[in-house]
Amino acid sequence: MSVHKELNKKKMTIGDFKKYKEEGRKFTYVTAYDFTTASIVNESDVDIILVGDSLGMIMLGYDGTTAVTLEDMLHHIKPVVKGAPDTFIVGDMPFGTYNVSIEQAIQTANRIYKETGCDCVKLEGGAEMADTIRAIVKAGIPVMGHIGLTPQTAGMLGGFKVQGGTPESAKQLIEDAKKLEEAGAFSIVLECVPKGVAKALTASVSIPVLGIGAGPYVDCQVLVTQDLLNMYGEFKPKFVKQFADIRKAMVDGLNQFHKESVEGEFPSAEYSFNAKVEGFEVE
Ligand code: KIV
Repeated sequence: MSVHKELNKKKMTIGDFKKYKEEGRKFTYVTAYDFTTASIVNESDVDIILVGDSLGMIMLGYDGTTAVTLEDMLHHIKPVVKGAPDTFIVGDMPFGTYNVSIEQAIQTANRIYKETGCDCVKLEGGAEMADTIRAIVKAGIPVMGHIGLTPQTAGMLGGFKVQGGTPESAKQLIEDAKKLEEAGAFSIVLECVPKGVAKALTASVSIPVLGIGAGPYVDCQVLVTQDLLNMYGEFKPKFVKQFADIRKAMVDGLNQFHKESVEGEFPSAEYSFNAKVEGFEVE
């Protein structure tokens, strides 16, 4: 039995990232952390899935991402790879698994890439991560960068705040993006940055910039699935548009199940095994 439909969807390749940028073709990128959600995203037109360390909050109920372990990531990336065979899948490197040494970073990237079958790894940080990125790419693993608001080190940035809000910090972000491209990153997530800064940064590199809270002038729009479908709850950053209300649909469905069950309406004959067993007859 397979949940997968025959789809007319072509999985993106690493080569497509640069090609799409050159052609000015926009694309989209969302999160998934489990098989079922991955299979739903796979059936949609969305191009990329991130198994992000945001699973710390969304799947594990933590306050942030720093406590997420490599084992947590491996556990969640594997079912997503199974659930979305037609979609490019990114495996996030969690905090503390690449900041000790370049060797540690290569070992972490090897485990994520080899044990899960995802299509690349993602790590956070600007110019200071260039040597690490270079080494992972040299080891044969594609790397997606992540600059701007970097949630793993949000404490160092003074909290979950817009980044690049001064001319100096905006120029630094652009320098970071160029350094990541030089180091061999094939794309860069840019999080929580004013749209004018994002526009200049996107024009300054030849690899695609994947924006979350970075306005309309980037190459690809990114959102957390549980935010854009309103599954996670009350928390809603400014940059999130809710495109559906799945939380309400689920609560309504659960309430209907409860009501029909306690009132005896469910399960009717349609949902029961009706074979007559001698001595056990019912009306
Ligand atoms: O972990 C995550 O969901 C992310 C996105 C915010 C890009 O890194």
